[in-house]
Amino acid sequence: MNGTPAPIERAAELLRSARRVAVLTGAGVSAESGLATFRGAGGLWEGHRVEDVATPFAFRRDPELVWRFYNMRREALARAAPNAGHLVLAELERRKGAENFDLITQNVDGLHTAAGSRRVWELHGNIRRVRCTGCEIISDRGLEALPDLPRCLDCGQLLRPDIVWFHEALPMDVWNRAEQATRECRCLIVAGTSAIVYPAAGLIELAAASGAGVIEINLVRTAASGHATVFLEGPTGRLLPELVKRM
Ligand code: OAD
Repeated sequence: MNGTPAPIERAAELLRSARRVAVLTGAGVSAESGLATFRGAGGLWEGHRVEDVATPFAFRRDPELVWRFYNMRREALARAAPNAGHLVLAELERRKGAENFDLITQNVDGLHTAAGSRRVWELHGNIRRVRCTGCEIISDRGLEALPDLPRCLDCGQLLRPDIVWFHEALPMDVWNRAEQATRECRCLIVAGTSAIVYPAAGLIELAAASGAGVIEINLVRTAASGHATVFLEGPTGRLLPELVKRM
């Protein structure tokens, strides 16, 4: 019987026919690696909203509280590994060719790179890196345990995570690359993000306005769903491999 193709088939066709592909990921992609999303479970951490912890004001007021939040995330990450969703996105890059593929992520966990993805644009920084509030030196401390008030090894001033907080600007070079990739792609996969944090979420509107097909994968409909050509409901760890397999 010839009915309307299933959403996964329509998505696979979009992906197949697009020479240039971009992907925008959020915390949901790492959920199956055991990492907490920001707005899951009531969206609270020790009674605080993430918007009240991940800010320069919060850090000035109570750096220990902010560091406890990030140290907890660093610890969880030390026990985590890329899942099937991360791994298949690295495979998709190899199949499309790196020059035709960009992976834009809001995640700071580095799991896309760990899975083998190469063209990764980390919009919000990386939790492995720290930046000195005094001398501004950035260093990669991996996932070693850090004290609640870690100090710069060079100048002794307080360190902060090298993460973009609310009310802070995104790194300009990374943002420009992400915007260009979004403008040029013919297909944007939006995976595991609530799509409410700007400017990242604006990339979805940009892709749609530039004529790209938008495939959204999420457990629930989101702020991005209105721009999605196809919505695939379910976990990225299952649906991303299925999508790439059918491509
Ligand atoms: P959120 O926690 O806001 O959203 C996670 C999304 O993933 C939700 O829409 C879930 O429904 C979905 N989800 C959860 N598990 C999933 C799974 N297994 N498969 C598919 N979808 C799943 O996280 P982000 O959208 O990434 O910024 O949040 C954006 C930014 O807000 C973060 O980068 C962070 C945060 O504050 C900063 O720290 C600056």
